[in-house]
Amino acid sequence: MPVHFCPDNRTFFLTTEGMSYAMKILPHGRLVHLYWGAELMPQDLDFSLYLNYRAFSPAPDDDPAQCSSDTLPLEYPAYGTGDFRSPAIEILQPHDGSRILDLRYSGHQIIPGKPKLQGLPATFAAEEEAETLTITMTDVLGDVSVELRYTIFSKIAALARSARILNRGENIIQIRRALSCSVDFAHSRSRFHFLHLSGAWARERDIFASALRPGVQSIESRRGASSHQHNPFFALTECADSEDFGEAFGFNLVYSGNFLGLAELDSHESVRAQLGVNPFDFSWNLSPGDAFQTPEATLVYSSAGLGSLSRSYHRLYRDHLCRGERSKSPRPILVNNWEATGYDFDAEKLEALARSAAGLGIELFVLDDGWFGQRNSDRTSLGDWVVNERKLPGGLSRLATRLKGMGMDFGLWFEPEMVSPESELYQKHPDWCLHVPGRERTLSRFQLVLDFSRPEVREAVYRQMERILRTVPVSYVKWDMNRNLTEIGSADLPPQAQQEAAHRYMLGLYQFMERMIQAFPHILFEGCSGGGGRFDPGMLYYMPQIWTSDNSDAISRLRIQYGTSVVYPWSSIAAHVSAVPNHQVGRVTSFQTRGHVALTGAFGLELDIGALSDGDRAELRRVIEIYRDHRGLLCEGDFYRLRSPFRTNEAAWMIVSRDQLEALVVHVSILAQPNSPQRFLSLKGLNPAGHYRIAEGKGAAFRGDALMRVGLPLPPREGDFVSSFWHLQGASTDKDRKSGF
Ligand code: GLA
Repeated sequence: MPVHFCPDNRTFFLTTEGMSYAMKILPHGRLVHLYWGAELMPQDLDFSLYLNYRAFSPAPDDDPAQCSSDTLPLEYPAYGTGDFRSPAIEILQPHDGSRILDLRYSGHQIIPGKPKLQGLPATFAAEEEAETLTITMTDVLGDVSVELRYTIFSKIAALARSARILNRGENIIQIRRALSCSVDFAHSRSRFHFLHLSGAWARERDIFASALRPGVQSIESRRGASSHQHNPFFALTECADSEDFGEAFGFNLVYSGNFLGLAELDSHESVRAQLGVNPFDFSWNLSPGDAFQTPEATLVYSSAGLGSLSRSYHRLYRDHLCRGERSKSPRPILVNNWEATGYDFDAEKLEALARSAAGLGIELFVLDDGWFGQRNSDRTSLGDWVVNERKLPGGLSRLATRLKGMGMDFGLWFEPEMVSPESELYQKHPDWCLHVPGRERTLSRFQLVLDFSRPEVREAVYRQMERILRTVPVSYVKWDMNRNLTEIGSADLPPQAQQEAAHRYMLGLYQFMERMIQAFPHILFEGCSGGGGRFDPGMLYYMPQIWTSDNSDAISRLRIQYGTSVVYPWSSIAAHVSAVPNHQVGRVTSFQTRGHVALTGAFGLELDIGALSDGDRAELRRVIEIYRDHRGLLCEGDFYRLRSPFRTNEAAWMIVSRDQLEALVVHVSILAQPNSPQRFLSLKGLNPAGHYRIAEGKGAAFRGDALMRVGLPLPPREGDFVSSFWHLQGASTDKDRKSGF
């Protein structure tokens, strides 16, 4: 049983493969954290608690036996009775000005499976795949309760946590902070590192790891989106960014808006880690009888470095987060016109692009920005989702029919949350965007953000999109979001509720996306926000793949995709081959390198295929063939990072089938080195006693242990940006086996 409650010592043990998490109810009702780490049998862990007096740590009646909340490892700490560390929750009682909360255990429930989270994206599990524990904590005055929910998955070292706050009193309360999780680690973790994924537009998710130091280390977004700058993920790791060694504790928020993640190392060397909606510019008024649900945080444990942490996250998200018929089926090979044409296209040009792609195995043609209203630049027409017949006579259906004739499905770009001031929608409804009366509306990319917290705004956009999606055979939608939020005010909310607007926007957006995917289950939705500005698990709940970055340069992508893979499955990482010199960085790389870097993601092309040389065209055929032959493995296999582009002059990764009978390996050497030594690439995840034939080689079979300990010989470092690709096939016949070592 994954959740075990021992009534004698009032201890909860949540156990799954390779991981346990334990808590205890103290005699006075406080809920303390006992343990999170490698699997432990349920047992008495009281000896691990420090229950003594410390100076300047207040305790009721100054009684050491009561113990100060300042020194207890609390499961959901609140402010006001002696814990001076970062609180998980803050409540203001406007009727008397109180900000104090003293939460005590008032009951718990254990159920099989995992209930849905009202209105929010979250992991899911069937009854036999998980168990959920809900612990209710109630303030000593009785008018506020918090339900702490823990779901433990039976086959993954993962836990999903969230909190639900209930107003049981007679007055409105104001929630000022309600994080999704808080974990107090004992001092043994004080030497850990705070690892996070941070960057900017076109260079998303670099890996940073720095040693914890006294005080708070944090990452956050105040942009109204999870952001390019910081991903809503961090990990506490024993060995910095080691792939294979040391404990690693991952925290990821299933949310796409403002967030805060932090680790606080206190004066007694314990570490508090927290993650949730950013309390900055947030408050929520809760009426008597109402409840507020926080987003979910996923907590993943690894006893063997970042590699195994990532594989658990990948499994969790592939099997328990991404939904819909399209998430499990092979992802189509697509060509997108954006980098080839920008806004400058008409039907003839698009058809010419498509014709040059026909017969190469490309399955989907995606029409990007510029097909609607007067959209010939980024200055106009967002919100007017009506085809521009001057560019596309006969409309989208005619184009889709022509594409079908060339053997390709049709995909379409939308930016549903946005409006251009120069648009019919804005002229009719200038108050439909986020704004603060009397203040200027700050533009970004010449556009404003529609107030998706308002049902009538959502309805109007939905109806426009629905009209197209019901009449045109669209099988893929690229859902963009090209600016962050400013002047976050909603014309629908009273003054005292304006700080709810950013979260209400997210709730409205999630409702809209849910409606969309339910109405069009056959459509594959791909998320995008100026590339990877909203690459988070909240989005993956609705859209199983996301455009990873506007930077499509293969060498930049080594870092971007490598960093993204720390949390997100390869199947979600959209990766395209684009033209050279690259549009974002001007770099020239070979077609082969661009192909190898892109083909282990959700593969596509973003260039004019007609302009390719014969050699590049032949290379394109080869890459498409590899992708087509192996995309099942690419979607489902276990992912291993082999060489880090952050620390070395190369990058390498591999994907191994679950049965360890097949693997794909990609290696990129970044800069040439004269007279370079013979180098080897040690593989991972193979069956040590298994035999593997390198499919493109001469048929010799090598043992898995040799491939992992000696490694694959790498070609000399001649030339910059040179890539290699290997397909390893389990050798099953005796003849195959004998031909190896
Ligand atoms: C964003 C996307 C691009 C492209 C443009 C179109 O920047 O990331 O891929 O769709 O918008 O305006």
